[in-house]
Amino acid sequence: MSKSEFVQVSENGGVLDVRINRPDRKNALTHEMYSALTAALELAASTASVRVVLIAGTDDCFTAGNDMVDFLNNPPEGDEAPVMRFLGKLVAMEKPIIAAVNGPAVGVGTTMLLHCDLVYVAQSAKLQMPFVNLGLCPEAASSMLLPTLMGHQRAAELLLLGETIGGEQAVALGIANAVFDDQSYLAEARAKAEKLAKQPAASVRLTKQLLKAPYIDALKAHMKVEGDLFFQRLSSPEAREAMSSFVEKRKPDFSKFD
Ligand code: COA
Repeated sequence: MSKSEFVQVSENGGVLDVRINRPDRKNALTHEMYSALTAALELAASTASVRVVLIAGTDDCFTAGNDMVDFLNNPPEGDEAPVMRFLGKLVAMEKPIIAAVNGPAVGVGTTMLLHCDLVYVAQSAKLQMPFVNLGLCPEAASSMLLPTLMGHQRAAELLLLGETIGGEQAVALGIANAVFDDQSYLAEARAKAEKLAKQPAASVRLTKQLLKAPYIDALKAHMKVEGDLFFQRLSSPEAREAMSSFVEKRKPDFSKFD
């Protein structure tokens, strides 16, 4: 199984706990971490005693999304890129996935939530999809799923302006089920995971499949279209300027690009 010191996996009473744990980089995801997350999902899928996956971050952060240094120096490419394999596995998972989200959940930190079955957020949660701000485009079928969830205009606000939303807004927009205080969000998510782990497993899997069946093929096709464009955009001058400015801790200057 592909492992990373920054992704911790443990099975507790039918629940596979997956912790994104790279706090000094705000849990930013590297290729190696995506591969470890994929391996964790594969482990959950192939272990009969695992009924539910619970994904969480660390004390003050879910994840700052893709590692910016990787984006700059070692960008993902093609369908076999670790990020694409992770998203593909996330979409294909038959067993339910619960996310417990606190602090920043940026980029894929938010788009992965659209593929989870239950999402619980802390008051501190800050969800953001700054793809346009970074000279990129949406990923993980977010440009299909968000308008379906909340309508074009509200999705456009999130995707075109890259605006940050808090926990309560995430619930109001349908991205999350409920918001709790920072002391209890993880315990609340865990309680739901344990409850779900006790439900009849075959019926849970069948119901998840039925919930997604009407749109799953279109979702996969759209995710592929987005992914190809996203990879192209990564080498665009705007994206290079955005990534460099982040690493160099300065404001990006997009004025020279048409
Ligand atoms: N990739 C690589 N390093 C990252 C990172 C990322 N996505 N996000 C944060 N870090 C690093 C910072 O560079 C900083 O490093 P330093 O200690 O060497 O200065 C460290 O993690 C702490 O981040 P900092 O920005 O100081 O924390 P914050 O609490 O002020 O802000 C965020 C947190 C997540 C809001 C902010 O770091 C951020 O916007 N990160 C980029 C998110 C992003 O655009 N991701 C890609 C989406 S496609």
